Amino acid sequence: MDKKVPRIKLNNGLEIPQFGLGTWKSKPGEVEQAVKDAIDIGYRHIDCAYAYGNEKEVGAGIKAKIDDGTVKREDLWVTSKLWNSFHRPDLVEKVVRESLRNLQLDYLDLYLIHWPVAYKEDGELFPRDANGKIIFSDVDYVDTWKAMEECVRKGLTKSIGLSNFNSRQIERILSVATIKPVVNQVECHPYLNQKKLIEFCRSKNIVVTGYSPLGSPDRPWAKPEDPQLLEDSN
Ligand SMILES: NC(=O)c1ccc[n+]([C@@H]2O[C@H](COP(=O)([O-])OP(=O)(O)OC[C@H]3O[C@@H](n4cnc5c(N)ncnc54)[C@H](OP(=O)(O)O)[C@@H]3O)[C@@H](O)[C@H]2O)c1
Repeated sequence: MDKKVPRIKLNNGLEIPQFGLGTWKSKPGEVEQAVKDAIDIGYRHIDCAYAYGNEKEVGAGIKAKIDDGTVKREDLWVTSKLWNSFHRPDLVEKVVRESLRNLQLDYLDLYLIHWPVAYKEDGELFPRDANGKIIFSDVDYVDTWKAMEECVRKGLTKSIGLSNFNSRQIERILSVATIKPVVNQVECHPYLNQKKLIEFCRSKNIVVTGYSPLGSPDRPWAKPEDPQLLEDSN
C-alpha cells in the first residue's frame, strides 16, 4: 500500500504521505496496536501530539514495527505538536526532546505549533484560575517560531509548521521566518471546507493538512443536537 499512498512535496523539498493515522483520543491499551496495524497495512504517516498524552504508547508501536523489519525509520513520517503551555522560547527544545523520548525517535519529520495561543507555563496542559477559566500567557507565537527554527537547526525535526493558524497569523510568521512553515494543519471536512484558507496557504506554498476529516463524531464537546456528518445524506 505504501507505494499507492501519494506523497506531497513541501516547500523544503521533503515529501509527506498524503494520508496519515491520527492518534488523538486513541485509548491507552489500544493505540500501540492501532499504530502497528496501521503500519502493517501501509500507513507511513503518523500524526501525534504531546497533548494527546499517548506518545509513549505510539512510540512503542513504531519501535515494534521498526524492530521487526516491517519499516525503516526513514520510511515513516512522524509529526508531533508543541502544546500551548510550552510556547515560551526557552521551553520549546525541552518539550520537543520529551516528545522524542516518548516516541523513541532521534528526530521528528514535522513539528507543529499546535495552536496560535499560549497558556501559562506552569506545566499544566490546561492551567485554570479559581473560576475554572484558562490562564493565558502573553508569549507571542512569533517568538515561539524562532525557537521552532532552532529545533530544525539542531536536527530535532526536519520540518516545522503550524496548526489552527488563520491567514493573518500565518502572515505574521512569514514576516519573521528564516525557515518557512511547510504545513498548516486545520479542521477540514464538508461542514468546514476552508476554501479561503486553503487558497491563501496555496499562494504561500504552504500545504494544508485537514484534520477531523469525518467531522470528529467523538469530539468531547459534541452536543446531541449537532449535525452528524457521517449520517448526512446530502
Ligand atoms: N491539530 C489539531 O488541533 C487537531 C485537532 C483534531 C484532530 N487532529 C488530528 O486529526 C485526527 C483525526 O481527527 P478526529 O479524531 O477529530 O476526527 P475524525 O477522523 O473526523 O473522526 C474520528 C472518529 O470517527 C469515527 N469513525 C471512523 N470511521 C468511521 C466509520 N466508517 N463509521 C463511523 N464512525 C467512524 C472514529 O471511530 P473509532 O474511534 O471507533 O474508530 C472516531 O470516533 C486526530 O487523531 C489528530 O491526529 C488534529
